[in-house]
Formats: sequence, structure tokens, C-alpha cells
Amino acid sequence: MTIVRILGAAAGGGFPQWNCHCQGCETSRSGGVRALTQSSIAIRSNGGDWFLINASPDVRQQIELMRADNCFPPQNNNCFAPQNGRSVPFAGIILTDAEIDHTTGLILLRESSQPLKIYSPDRVKFALTTGYPLLSTLQNYCGVDWSPLDAAISLSSDLEVESFALSSKPPKYMQDATRSPDEVWGVGLTIRDRSTGKTLTYAPGLAEIDEAMQRRLNASDCILIDGTFWTNDELPALGVSSRSARQMGHLPLSGEGGSLQELARLTTPRKMLVHINNTNPILIPNSAQQQAVGIQGVEIGCDGLMFEL
Ligand code: MLT
Ligand code: MN
Ligand code: ZN
Repeated sequence: MTIVRILGAAAGGGFPQWNCHCQGCETSRSGGVRALTQSSIAIRSNGGDWFLINASPDVRQQIELMRADNCFPPQNNNCFAPQNGRSVPFAGIILTDAEIDHTTGLILLRESSQPLKIYSPDRVKFALTTGYPLLSTLQNYCGVDWSPLDAAISLSSDLEVESFALSSKPPKYMQDATRSPDEVWGVGLTIRDRSTGKTLTYAPGLAEIDEAMQRRLNASDCILIDGTFWTNDELPALGVSSRSARQMGHLPLSGEGGSLQELARLTTPRKMLVHINNTNPILIPNSAQQQAVGIQGVEIGCDGLMFEL
């Protein structure tokens, strides 16, 4: 049995975002809705080690919350047990892309007494050793033990991870360093528990749902899906950015061809949104948009949510 934990359900900036005054952020500040940390999940199979999937700038707080929730029982011989000194509580870290909100947490783990075991696509390593050289920087701290995130990797005897290309959009800081339009800058993951046969598909940056993706989602027992924006022009309409949701590589939830319509058609038992931007009205309690999501049988992810796969 695999345990999945949402460490952070918000997109980059978190909820509320430090400089944002949208309705959701102000509601959160006044205590009307719980704050959310930035995008990350963790998984563990059968009482074994935890694996971190994406390392957000809020990872320190997220680890402390895991500890408070007894995710690291001291009697358990995991890598966070006191006898293992100041190591890192994750046996491995998987990066789906090189975006700032999914990688900045790596630098906060530099106090580890062991090299960080990191799996990522090749382009992500390139970004993190050039445009945003976190991996190079870590060499003089804890060190990094990097492995390619090949099509399929085995994390433990029970846990298998398949990665599939999702995005050819580089992070903004690498936009001038791309060589070809087919480069894979972002992947999704299908995590399979071999002992139960159950699967989870994680896709925090989803630009489109084509037929192959539809099949993959339908074949999963649970999906954690890009819930960044409600509308395509969400940021331009608020006057805070010129880039549309689609230009940023995020299929908006609403409207014709939006992801909510697609998600409603899927027979997947559990469908949940993650990587939710603070401007997304689904975060506002009882908003029409939040209700619309619920009516379609789609859950809105929140920090600390744990479930069995
Ligand atoms: C994204 O998810 O598109 C990025 O994290 C946006 C950003 O640069 O913050
Ligand atoms: Mn992001
Ligand atoms: Zn906001």
C-alpha cells in the first residue's frame, strides 16, 4: 500500500502570495480560508522511505508539518530516524520540471549529511546547472547524486515510477537557452504500487489533454492534476501579467476545452486539483467556481492531505 501526501497544493507564490491583493489572497489573510504552501507531494510505500516529488521553497515548513503529523515514526528505521544523524528525510527527490517553485527547496536541504539523491529529466539537470545552478551550488554543501528520470524507474520493491513528456516549455529563466522545440522540459508521472497494482498520475503542469493523456488518466486510480487557473486570461484580466494560462503551459479549468470539462468525463475514481494559483477563484469558500468543481466530482487539494493509493 502506498501513502500519498500533498505537501503543498498552491502554485508558485503560494496562497496568499506576498504581493497579491486578489480576493482569494485577501480572504486568506483575514482568516477566511487556510493558506497553502507551494507545489509538492511525497509518497511512501509499505512503511518504507518517503520520496519527495518536487522541492518547493516551502519544503522546510512542509517537513516540519510531516513531523508534527507523525509521518516519521522514530521506531521506524527510515532515513530520518535520529540514529541517522542529519540526513534528509527523503530517500530520493524527483523533479518533474525545473520551474523555480518546484526546485528552490533543494537549496534548503543543503544541511543534509548525505548527498541528495535526485532524479530528473536531462533538460532539468541542464537548467539546474546553468540558468539556475542549484545542483552545482549544492556540490560544495551536501553534494548531489543525480540520476536520469528514465521512462521507468524503480524506487523500491513496491514502487515504480513512469515518466512521460508533458511540456516543451522551458522555465522563463531558460527561454533563451533552448535548442529545439521538441525538448522535454516538463514531465508527468504515473506511480504504480506493484503490490496492489494501484496507480497515481501526477501532472501539475498540463497544457493539453490529448487522447493518450485521456487514456492514461482513465486508467489511473487517482489523479493529481494541474489546477493552476480558472480562466485563460486570469492574470492579464487582473493586470498582473501579460501571459495567458495556455501561454504558461497550464490548461485553464473553465470554458470550452477547459480541463474541468475533460475531467468530468473521466471515470477515474479520485480526481484532485493541485498547483492551484492564488488568483484561482476555486480557492474562495463557496464561490460558484468552487461549487462547479465539486459538482463535477473533482476535489480541491490542500496541504497535509494524505491518502492511501
Ligand atoms: C509555472 O508553473 O508555470 C511556473 O512555476 C510559473 C513561475 O515561473 O512561477
Ligand atoms: Mn509552477
Ligand atoms: Zn492572490
